[in-house]
Formats: sequence, structure tokens, C-alpha cells
Amino acid sequence: MNVAVLLLLALGLLEAEGRCFFNRTQEHCVCYNLSEESINSIVQCLAATAVEFRGGELERYVAFPISDLDPSTIEMLGSLIIRKVIFGDLLVPEILLARVLRFFSYTHVQELVFDSCIFEGRGNWDEMAGQDLPILSLHFHNVTSAPLTGREQDLSSLSSWLETLQELSITGSHVTSLPCGIGGVFRALRFLDMAQNSLEDESLMPAFCKGAFPQLQVLGLQRNNLKSYHRVCESVQLLPELQQLDLSQNRLMADPSSSCQWPLSLQVFNLSNTGLDEVLTPLPPSLEVLDMSCNHLHAVDISLSSLKKLFLSQNMLQAAPSIKNYPVLDTLHLDNNSITELPGDEVKLLGHLQDVAVAGNPYNCSCSGAGGLQALAGMGHLGQGWPHDYTCHSPPHYQGRLVQDVPVSVLQCNSAVVIAPLCIALTLLSLAGAVCLVRSRPRLVRPCCRV
Ligand SMILES: *[C@@H]1O[C@H](CO)[C@@H](O)[C@H](O)[C@H]1NC(C)=O
Ligand SMILES: *[C@@H]1O[C@H](CO)[C@@H](O)[C@H](O)[C@H]1NC(C)=O
Ligand SMILES: *[C@@H]1O[C@H](CO)[C@@H](O)[C@H](O)[C@H]1NC(C)=O
Ligand SMILES: *[C@@H]1O[C@H](CO)[C@@H](O)[C@H](O)[C@H]1NC(C)=O
Ligand SMILES: *[C@@H]1O[C@H](CO)[C@@H](O)[C@H](O)[C@H]1NC(C)=O
Ligand SMILES: *[C@@H]1O[C@H](CO)[C@@H](O)[C@H](O)[C@H]1NC(C)=O
Repeated sequence: MNVAVLLLLALGLLEAEGRCFFNRTQEHCVCYNLSEESINSIVQCLAATAVEFRGGELERYVAFPISDLDPSTIEMLGSLIIRKVIFGDLLVPEILLARVLRFFSYTHVQELVFDSCIFEGRGNWDEMAGQDLPILSLHFHNVTSAPLTGREQDLSSLSSWLETLQELSITGSHVTSLPCGIGGVFRALRFLDMAQNSLEDESLMPAFCKGAFPQLQVLGLQRNNLKSYHRVCESVQLLPELQQLDLSQNRLMADPSSSCQWPLSLQVFNLSNTGLDEVLTPLPPSLEVLDMSCNHLHAVDISLSSLKKLFLSQNMLQAAPSIKNYPVLDTLHLDNNSITELPGDEVKLLGHLQDVAVAGNPYNCSCSGAGGLQALAGMGHLGQGWPHDYTCHSPPHYQGRLVQDVPVSVLQCNSAVVIAPLCIALTLLSLAGAVCLVRSRPRLVRPCCRV
């Protein structure tokens, strides 16, 4: 019985006073206050693919004797459909974890999550040597544990499993460094998320030393203490497979003396909210997605021929970037900038994109400003902010009105009113004048004969 209890505990299948809640639609079962008092209501969790345990005491089971499992228990474990186990708000004695982790090898659990847990003490991981586990994805959020440095022995005992792991996240856990040796163990890791920690420029270089994380494709470093754009570049340039890098919510600065080149494989780059007042160079040459929203950019004058999505919301741009520099662009977000109008030729180019957002800009609703936006909306390309988030800031009599409601006609164009008589005169005089008038009609927004 002891073993069964411990095993259920290890898998979190032990329930507290009937407090398991099963959500059939989500196939998610949550149990509160883990304890051995009752195993009755856990039965309902057996139909769940995800089981979550919140709160309770694991310390009490540290001294439990553990022997090997009998065949019927192994069979029972093999028949469980649970794929994901979440432990939350728990004090986890590492010694206990080390003893029960190997039982996961009899299950089909692929994802293990520890959220707001405190790992206590040091476990002996020798028994895990040579053990394979089905777990491919391991997540820690807001956890505290003994430092990772100096634990090479533990890691090497776990290495048969860790070298098959594909996803690892350690977020919100005050991590300051990742020793070089760790990256060498995670040979199959594709996804590493280290967001919301205390990593600094100096700690990155050893973390991604030669041979570390050789298959890494996605790296999240958002919300750390990174400062130098170029030092980060130098640190990740040994990751040959890197496709996505998130540096958002760090305060980045340039270091002009560096000539670092980003990995050629890099396609998705997030520099959102990094305090930039200019575009830093170099940018990865094969980028497909670039997020530089929430910065202080006044102008974006770059060309990237493979770029598909460009996010520049929440900056200080006074004009849309030149779309000609991005031949395959399909998405452009420019919300909350200082753009006052979209000229007609720009509207034509933007009209070729699938997803354009330019809400929250201080539009000049004199005829050309409002007309360009109305034309763009007419093509059905403006995102969900249209029409409510598109308002006029000038001229005074339109201030606060929706751009959509501004009547746009050639007659209301100030410039057109001035120029129109001239046009008429020209029309009478020459064929060119006639062409000018005809051309101006379908577009309405352009004053005719504008020079
Ligand atoms: C199950 O989860 C869905 C989706 O989150 C939710 O709408 C529903 O209310 C939940 N059902 C129960 C019984 O809690
Ligand atoms: C879990 O235990 C805590 C304190 O021990 C208690 O406040 C809470 O109500 C319990 N939760 C449930 C769902 O039983
Ligand atoms: C983080 O975990 C601690 C327990 O280790 C908990 O007290 C705290 O509320 C958690 N913080 C958040 C933001 O979840
Ligand atoms: C970039 O990061 C920000 C904040 O961390 C996030 O909100 C945004 O969705 C990310 N952008 C992309 C393109 O993933
Ligand atoms: C633009 O600013 C408004 C108001 O501050 C905010 O609610 C909205 O989320 C912002 N939109 C974007 C895309 O940043
Ligand atoms: C708005 O546009 C009109 C016509 O193009 C121009 O005369 C006027 O100065 C602009 N107003 C502002 C505030 O930019």
C-alpha cells in the first residue's frame, strides 16, 4: 500500500477530502490540498488528460519506504491517459522527487509543470541513471531551488532523460546564470524559455557556450536584465538552429564597436518594449517577423526582403515605413504612433497587405488624410480597430470625430478648391487637362493636378 500511495502521490493522483474538480470539456482535473486522507474522488481524474495539484504537504512522505512496483501497478500506470501533470503551490522535497520520478517511465505523461513550488534540500539522483522518461516538456514557473551550479553529478545521472527533452522553461524564478555544462546535456532541446529572470549580458555567454543546446530553435529571454544588443548577439551566435529570439522587455543599447552577425537561421525577432529610439543594426538578414512595438522610434528606414510581418505599434513614427522595402510583407501594425495621414500612393501599396492596423494615430482629416483611410477600410484591410479607434485630431472642426464619418468629396478639399478653377481652365485649353480631371475622379482623395 505504501508504494501505491507514494506512486499516486508522485503522479499527483492522491486527492484531498474529495476536492478534485473535473472539467470534461477541457479534460482537466484540479485537486486542491494534496494529502493521503482520501483516494475516493481521484477516480474522476482518471478520465482527464491534464491533472493539476494545488497546495498540500509533501514533506510528510519523505521517509516513506519505496520498493519496486508490482506488475499490476505497472499495468495500471501504463493504461492512464494522463499526458500533463501540474504541481502548484507545493513544497517539494527534492529527495522525494528523486525517488519517484523514475515511476513516470511507466506512464504516458509528456509534460510536467511546477508552478509556485519550493524545492527543498538536495536529492540523490543516482537511481535515475540510464532511465528514460516519456516526459518531453518540462516547465518551472516561480520556483525556488538550490542553485544549479555545482550539480554536474545530478545532471549526469539524469542525462539519458534530459538529452531527449524538447521543451524547457524556467520563468519568473530569479535565475542569474546557466552554467555552460547544462546546455551540453540538453542535446535535443528545441525550445528554451528563460523569461522573467535576472539574466545579465555577462551570464549569457557561458550559458550558450560552444556545444550548448545544439538544436535550439526558440529562445525566450524577455524581461531579464539584458542591456547590450551586441553582447546578446555575440552570445547566441553559436546556436546554429536558432529561429526565434525574444528580447522584449529588456532595456537594450547599441555597442557600435561590435560587428557581430546574428545566426542566419533567425526568422522571428522580438524587440518589443526594449527602450529603442532607433533601429539597431545589424538585424538578422533572413527575418520574417520583426516586432519593434512599444519603443521610441521616430523613423524606420530598413529593408528586409524576406520580412512578412512588421509590428511597430506604440512608437513615435510620423509616417508609415516605405512598403517598397518589403516585397513580401503581409502584416503591418502601426497603431498608436504620430502618423497624421496616409497619402494615396501609400494606401495603394498598403492595400496589397492582408492585415494593416493604424488605429490611435492623430489623423489630419482634411480631405486627403481621411480619404486615404476610408479607401483602405473600403478594401477591407483594416483590422478590428476600424472605425472606432480611428479619430481626427485636426483640423479643429473635425477634432474627436471618427475618420469614418468625415464626408470626403473633392469639393471639400481645400487644395482642390483652390486648384479646381485652374484645372477647369486647363481642361478648356488642352487635352492634358481633360486627362487630369478624369484621373482625379475615381480616387476622390487626391486633389487634381497636385504638384
Ligand atoms: C470548463 O472549461 C470551460 C472552458 O474554460 C469553461 O467554459 C467551463 O465553464 C468549465 N466547466 C466547468 C464545469 O467548470
Ligand atoms: C486548502 O487548504 C487551505 C489551508 O489549509 C484552505 O484555506 C483551503 O480552503 C483549502 N482548499 C480547498 C479547496 O479545500
Ligand atoms: C510564487 O511562489 C510563492 C511560493 O513559493 C508564492 O508565495 C507566491 O505567491 C508566488 N507568486 C506568484 C506571483 O504566483
Ligand atoms: C513580443 O513580445 C511582446 C511582449 O513580451 C508580446 O506581447 C508580443 O506578442 C511578442 N510579439 C510577437 C510577434 O510574438
Ligand atoms: C493604443 O493605445 C490605447 C490607449 O492607450 C490602448 O488601449 C491600446 O491597447 C493601444 N494599442 C496598441 C496596439 O498598442
Ligand atoms: C492638415 O492637412 C492640411 C491639408 O493637407 C494642411 O493644410 C494642414 O496644415 C494640416 N494640419 C495639420 C495640423 O497638420
